[in-house]
Amino acid sequence: MITSHSIKQTYNRFSSLYDLIFKPYLDFGRERAIKQLAPKSGARVLEIGVGTGLSLEYYPSNVEVLGFDYSYGMLKKSKIKARNLSHCPVNLMQMDAQNLAFADNSFDYLLGAYVLTVIPDPDKAVRELFRVARPGAKVVIMNYIRSRNKLMGLIEDIFHPVFASIGLFTLNHDLPGLLKQHGAQDIRIEPTSLLNLHFIVSFTVPA
Ligand SMILES: C[S@@+](CC[C@H](N)C(=O)[O-])C[C@H]1O[C@@H](n2cnc3c(N)ncnc32)[C@H](O)[C@@H]1O
Repeated sequence: MITSHSIKQTYNRFSSLYDLIFKPYLDFGRERAIKQLAPKSGARVLEIGVGTGLSLEYYPSNVEVLGFDYSYGMLKKSKIKARNLSHCPVNLMQMDAQNLAFADNSFDYLLGAYVLTVIPDPDKAVRELFRVARPGAKVVIMNYIRSRNKLMGLIEDIFHPVFASIGLFTLNHDLPGLLKQHGAQDIRIEPTSLLNLHFIVSFTVPA
C-alpha cells in the first residue's frame, strides 16, 4: 500500500535524480498539457504536486502559478527553478492534495502532472480539486492510466505492489472512472508517451 510517509520519504530522497529520469521521458506531455490548459491572460493557475518544477518553463508569461507539493525535497528543486525562471510569477508551498488550504471556488485553471496516482487517496484529492475549482474551471491532468490490454494490465498488476510499497506510484486506479464519478464534464483523453502509458486528460468542472 502507498502511504503519505513512504511518498514523502521516497520523493525527498529521489529529488536529485528526478529530472535526469523524468525530464526526457515525460516533458512532451507537460508542454502539450499547458497548451491545452490555455490559461487566459492574468489567470492564476493551481498546479497540484508541482514536484521539481519541470512544467514551470512552459507557462505563458501573462499568468501567475501557484504550485504545491507534499515533498520538501522536490519543492527545494522547484524553488530553485522558479527563482531562475523569471518569465512569470510563481509561488510554491508545501501542501497535501488530500487536504487543501484554499477556499471553495478559488481557481479557474488547474493542472496536475503525473501526481493523482501517487496520492494514497486519489478520491479525496479529486474531491478537493473540485472543491477549490470554480464552476466551469478547466482542469488538465497528465497521468498514467491502467491499460485495457489484458497482458499489459496483468504486468501492471504484478508491478503495482512493488512500486506502491516504495512510495513511488500506484498502477491500479481507474482515473477516468474516478473523474466521471465526481461529475467531470467534456473529458478528453490523449496519449502522450511512446508506449501509450501516459495520457493528457482534460475536463471541465460542472457549472
Ligand atoms: C511523479 S512526481 C510528478 C512531479 C511533477 N508534477 C512532474 O511533472 O514531474 C509526483 C509528485 O507528487 C507529489 N505528491 C505525492 N502525493 C502528494 C500529495 N498528497 N500532495 C501533494 N503532492 C503529492 C510527490 O511529492 C511528487 O513530487
